[in-house]
Amino acid sequence: MKQKGIPNFSGKRIWLIGASSGIGEACAQALIKAGAKVALSSRRVERLNTLAALGNTEQSLVLPLDVTDDGQLKNSYQSILRTWGGIDLLLFVSGVYVPLRADNFDIDTAEQTIDANLLGPMRAVALVLPEMLKAHAGHIAIVSSVAGYSGLPKALAYGPSKAAIINFCETLYYDLLPLGVSVHMISPGFVATEATAQNDFEMPALISAQEAAAEILSGIENGEFDIHFPKRFSRFLKFLRILPYPIYFWIVRRFVKI
Ligand SMILES: NC(=O)c1ccc[n+]([C@@H]2O[C@H](COP(=O)([O-])OP(=O)(O)OC[C@H]3O[C@@H](n4cnc5c(N)ncnc54)[C@H](OP(=O)(O)O)[C@@H]3O)[C@@H](O)[C@H]2O)c1
Repeated sequence: MKQKGIPNFSGKRIWLIGASSGIGEACAQALIKAGAKVALSSRRVERLNTLAALGNTEQSLVLPLDVTDDGQLKNSYQSILRTWGGIDLLLFVSGVYVPLRADNFDIDTAEQTIDANLLGPMRAVALVLPEMLKAHAGHIAIVSSVAGYSGLPKALAYGPSKAAIINFCETLYYDLLPLGVSVHMISPGFVATEATAQNDFEMPALISAQEAAAEILSGIENGEFDIHFPKRFSRFLKFLRILPYPIYFWIVRRFVKI
């Protein structure tokens, strides 16, 4: 059994959370260009308004929210239901990255990261699932990271938040495949965005936000569950995680100089 894709985004109703910059912004631009209806969410409303102006007035909804606030998510989803009657795709891109190592580990930062990167997507999924299950249709796409595959330096809170998203998507896929709802788990490597601009090391296989958006949308078009890119980097990390720990840690220490 294979899950459905979205072969043509034109007219599809998409709730894009994390639309104001980076990968989410590039996805919004591509989706508006493809004729989709896009509900644009994140905190910075002025950026969402700029994106909305790219399409016609019927095409976009601007719904500013903070993913750590369940009430704001609920109000936004109610607005979408009132305006469009439902959604075809939840595309959850929003995420935060604060570099953390053992010598600066800070529980407040860890809690904020888990709240935004793990509980945020869970809140949105809890909202959209009932309608999708009723309709036996719909798509849930969540951006994780290759940093969730296995432990890497400087990711003491970010890594666990993304590893948990991978597990969440796997478990959702298991439940939803027989029920007609598609799940798309998205694991990017390094993408040039505001989030990675803070990195003080050379990022291997770095791609642009536009390239990342193209990979994401093509994966959803084709109904892929495991959307990972760029393959030259993500396949290498997938291979590393199946190695015995002594070899895995030797390779990481040898090649990751951060
Ligand atoms: N760039 C990479 O190399 C890379 C690699 C792997 C995975 N990822 C993942 O890709 C996703 C996008 O990252 P990016 O690199 O494009 O970063 P970015 O440019 O910093 O964008 C992050 C987006 O998330 C939104 N956001 C953050 N906290 C939010 C909150 N509490 N409520 C609502 N929206 C919030 C931001 O909007 P506001 O600030 O307007 O709220 C922004 O739209 C993230 O999940 C990230 O973990 C990125």
